[in-house]
This record gives sequence, structure tokens and C-alpha cells, in this order.
Amino acid sequence: MRIIETSNLGRTYRKGKIDIPALQNVNLKIEEGQFVSIVGKSGSGKSTLLNLIGGLDKATEGTILFDGKDLRKMSRTAQAEHRKFSVGMIFQSFNLIQSRNALENVDLALTFGGVPRRKRKQLATELLTKVGLEERLTHLPDELSGGETQRVSIARALANNPKVMLADEPTGNLDSETSQEIIDVLIELNKKKGITIIMVTHDMETAEQVSDIVVKLKDGKVLEILKTGEVL
Ligand SMILES: Nc1ncnc2c1ncn2[C@@H]1O[C@H](COP(=O)(O)OP(=O)(O)O)[C@@H](O)[C@H]1O
Ligand SMILES: [Mg+2]
Repeated sequence: MRIIETSNLGRTYRKGKIDIPALQNVNLKIEEGQFVSIVGKSGSGKSTLLNLIGGLDKATEGTILFDGKDLRKMSRTAQAEHRKFSVGMIFQSFNLIQSRNALENVDLALTFGGVPRRKRKQLATELLTKVGLEERLTHLPDELSGGETQRVSIARALANNPKVMLADEPTGNLDSETSQEIIDVLIELNKKKGITIIMVTHDMETAEQVSDIVVKLKDGKVLEILKTGEVL
């Protein structure tokens, strides 16, 4: 099933009188359950594309369909629902709340999703256990390694059962061994739970190894869409 389809998608930023075309004419078709990587140099529009899909930003040109629904035409309420329930996002900088421990960070996402208090602790514990952190439930982000911190943000992103996980350079701050562990978590979510993964990465080799599709961006445009064929 088609989960995401963009047609001539574009995002132009306006700075004073200058237009910055961060993304232009992007045509993508992503099926549910695919692992998609987005590669390209810094400034090529990777984060812009991810933010449009995640509903953190709105397109200025073209259309973007998510599960058949046009994100540009959604009401504010529907867009907020999209951000909460349809997609989970993880980032290079993790973006956890520093004053809250692992459980509390996941709990907060469950709260936003409307999960009643009595169910939250157990659910948060289950999510953190799934990513291998059952021994780290009450640790603060400062007390966790980079890899563990990214696992907490994966658990948080999974809190409201998203169909799609958006990962913006999730291994950008991690050493190569830890990076592989995080990639392995994403592969497992993809293979076992059928979650569609869209990952921005600088690592072309990993992208080709793990993805069904590699989208290469250059100067805000799609340079090439590689169908790797050799899927794990
Ligand atoms: N909020 C913004 N305001 C103005 N320009 C922006 C903004 N966000 C991104 N850009 C510009 O859009 C282009 C693409 O940025 P981005 O999507 O962050 O690239 P990447 O993630 O590939 O490094 C860059 O030229 C960047 O400077
Ligand atoms: Mg970026």
C-alpha cells in the first residue's frame, strides 16, 4: 500500500526579499513497510523533506499525500494528530528532555497521545524494554551513553504506534559500532513490525545495504532514486 506520495513537492524559504528554494519538484512514491534512505550533501534539503513528511513544516509547492490524505489541505487539528499518531521522529541531537528520566520522556509522549495515566508506566516500560533499556529506566539523559539516549528517543517515537518512523541522521553523533546498533534497531522495527522507515544519512554504504530505496538529493532536487534490489 502506498503510504507517501509527493508530486512536485517544494519548499521555498523566504528571507527578507530572497527566496531560498530548499526543495524543488520532488516526486516520490513510498510503499508501506519500505526502508528508505535519503542521502545528499549538507544543505541539499534532506531535513526539509523529512520535516514536510513529519508535518513539522508545510510545503509551499506541490502535494504530499500521507495515507491518501493531503497534508497541505489538513486542518491544524488534523496536522497535530498526524504529528502525534502517524509519524515518529528521531534526530541526530536526540532532543530528549534533560530533566526527565528515560521513563518520563516516553511517558510524556504517551500523555500527548492521550494514554491514561494508569497505563502509561507499564507501556513506557515495555517500549524501553523493547529497545534494550530495561536496566536504564530511571536514568537521566546525562547518565546514558549516546547509543542509549538514541534508544530512548526511539522508544519515545514509538509511543503512539506510528506507521512511519522518520530518522534525521540518527547516527550522526555516534561512533561506528554504536551507529550499527541503532541501525539494527531500525532494521528490526522495519522487518518485525512493518514500520516504514525514512532515514537521512551521510553513509552511502549503509544506505545501500539496508534500504529498499535510496533517494539522492542535490541542491533541493532529486538527483537519483536508487532501487537497491538487494534487501536484507
Ligand atoms: N528555516 C529556514 N530558513 C531559511 N532557510 C532554511 C531554513 N531551513 C533550511 N534552510 C535552507 O534550506 C536548504 C536545505 O536545508 P536542509 O533541509 O536543512 O538541508 P540538509 O538537511 O540536507 O543539510 C539550505 O540551503 C538551508 O540553508
Ligand atoms: Mg539536515
